[in-house]
Amino acid sequence: MRVRDVQHPILPRATADELARQRAVVNLRKLLNSRVRSQNVRRFHEEGAPAFAERHGRQPQSPDEIEQALFESVDYRLWSAANRSAQEMIWVSVGEPIFRDRARMQAAAAELAAAPDRKGSLTLRPGEDISPEVAGTDVHLQPGGYARDDSEDDVVAGAFYETGGNVFSFGQGAGKGDSKAGVVFRLLETDFPELVPNRILDLGCSAGAASAAYADRFPDAQVHAIDIGAGMLRYAHARAEALGVAVHFHQMDAADLRFADGSFDLVVSHNMLHEIGAEKRRRAMAEALRVVRPGGLVIFQDVDTRFAPTEVHKVEKNWDTRFNGELFWKTYNDADLLADMRAAGFAADSVREHAAEAVSNINRWYVVSGRKPEQQA
Ligand SMILES: C[S@@+](CC[C@H](N)C(=O)[O-])C[C@H]1O[C@@H](n2cnc3c(N)ncnc32)[C@H](O)[C@@H]1O
Repeated sequence: MRVRDVQHPILPRATADELARQRAVVNLRKLLNSRVRSQNVRRFHEEGAPAFAERHGRQPQSPDEIEQALFESVDYRLWSAANRSAQEMIWVSVGEPIFRDRARMQAAAAELAAAPDRKGSLTLRPGEDISPEVAGTDVHLQPGGYARDDSEDDVVAGAFYETGGNVFSFGQGAGKGDSKAGVVFRLLETDFPELVPNRILDLGCSAGAASAAYADRFPDAQVHAIDIGAGMLRYAHARAEALGVAVHFHQMDAADLRFADGSFDLVVSHNMLHEIGAEKRRRAMAEALRVVRPGGLVIFQDVDTRFAPTEVHKVEKNWDTRFNGELFWKTYNDADLLADMRAAGFAADSVREHAAEAVSNINRWYVVSGRKPEQQA
């Protein structure tokens, strides 16, 4: 079973008009993020930097000045405004079916979560704001953000993440064949063939697409998954139950894990590092190390935006920090993740970066992995 391909009852039922609008947004985003965006560095050199030099009598130097110079280019300004609008359109195009179909989806989720033959579990911490710095932001403009939680049966955050992810990833994201967990499956086969994970933890699981994929791939393993958002987790739990896979979901901060030392053989996270600040990232790495067993493996997969040939490319990549609610995009891009992993206590010779070709997606991914020393000093 390809668990990201299947339909399930928690997905909103979009009308033909709504699907047509979503396809139009996919096409607009494809255009803006490939052919139009790829010209931004040229726009800097041909229009932006000369205009900046005329205004200031010198070339732009600091990252702030490079950004000012980019905005001297009319074409860059047009791209930036259009890209922001296209990002907002994602949520309009997936929000319409979600809010129209919300009552049915929430009833279906509640029924699956309470089914006597359910395979997994859901543990929430009502009333606790476990990660306020992320909870208060509409990350990538998703309405209400990751921690949206409108009522005790709310699943909107998860529905936004799964259906928005499909449009966001140019029609090749969630629901269209697995990409991110598939990258880790391939890495396990090629680089860690001896590892047989009996207990797996997925950090920052959102709608649970990767968590369900692990449960499907390793049916004898016990799979746990955590996220800060209750609405996200209700959706993920019901989704996993609908797909017939066992995942135990918990509302938890990756930097404050409520699991005993050495509980897991494999700890993974997909696209979570770029959502957390530097201090929390270091604590999350230390926590992942603590809860994995000696000799166990930790894999952080994330977006492939960290390497840029010039300072101008780097500033251009940081657009998401300034205009897309991605609070920690730049922090992630600039981080020395290898140093963080070593400082956390991973075996120094085991800490490695992998440039991962996506499995069924146009994206490429970045991966950093490390093993817990067999004997801790
Ligand atoms: C970009 S999403 C990735 C979701 C999923 N792993 C995937 O790849 O599709 C990042 C997720 O990390 C969660 N998150 C952010 N900060 C977190 C934290 N401190 N602890 C646990 N999860 C966190 C967010 O709520 C969000 O659901």
